[in-house]
Amino acid sequence: MLLGYKQLAHFSHWEKKMKFKNGRYRFVFVFPSLGIAIKFPVIRLFSVAWMIIRHIVHFRMRCIYQEAIVPSDCTYGYKNWLFGGIMANWREFVFFHKTKHPFLLPTRFSFFGLFNIQTAGEPCLIKYVDLWCQLYELTDGKVFADSHHFENPNNFCFNGGVLRMLDYGSKRTHKVIADFGEKILKSFDPKYDWEEKKKAKVAQTQ
Ligand SMILES: Nc1ncnc2c1ncn2[C@@H]1O[C@H](COP(=O)(O)OP(=O)(O)OP(=O)(O)O)[C@@H](O)[C@H]1O
Ligand SMILES: [Mg+2]
Repeated sequence: MLLGYKQLAHFSHWEKKMKFKNGRYRFVFVFPSLGIAIKFPVIRLFSVAWMIIRHIVHFRMRCIYQEAIVPSDCTYGYKNWLFGGIMANWREFVFFHKTKHPFLLPTRFSFFGLFNIQTAGEPCLIKYVDLWCQLYELTDGKVFADSHHFENPNNFCFNGGVLRMLDYGSKRTHKVIADFGEKILKSFDPKYDWEEKKKAKVAQTQ
């Protein structure tokens, strides 16, 4: 599971100290020196309890019911706030092991979604606009179906000089990867500059 000396070479310009990062659903400890990241789910127990108490105090029983019946793959609702991180961890593990897609940063192990061990990724330093515009072009706009994941450079890394995805716990992400993962992997240009493209387009029309 741990990476060998040679595989760690690409971390040479990246600090080898342990780092703490967090997202909406997971908090992550990255150990560049070991070549792994451990991802834990965020379980918003107190937020959910607080929301329910407020609904009760304001006699909004219908709201409690509505929040409770929201399907688990929505970005709100009690199931999502409580179990969204566990489900994202588990889906990430299953999707990687089913597809072994080279665009994915490997998820090595999952303890029923309660923690995942993933290969550590080198930070992706591409600007939001450049990432989003290039992915939009490469997928004929289909990334729009999962803009939450595909617009954020923090969900990608540059291992071995190749763009790879490290946050793929959502079904919408799976669909985009299944349809366009190969194309993105082959055609993604790290030097893509949206401002330059815009200037070139304006010059063409004049
Ligand atoms: N394998 C990894 N290597 C390095 N950093 C990582 C790794 N996995 C996650 N991270 C960092 O931790 C952050 C949170 O992880 P991740 O994006 O998987 O969680 P999330 O809660 O699902 O995110 P989001 O807010 O996008 O829904 C990432 O933005 C990234 O910076
Ligand atoms: Mg993320």
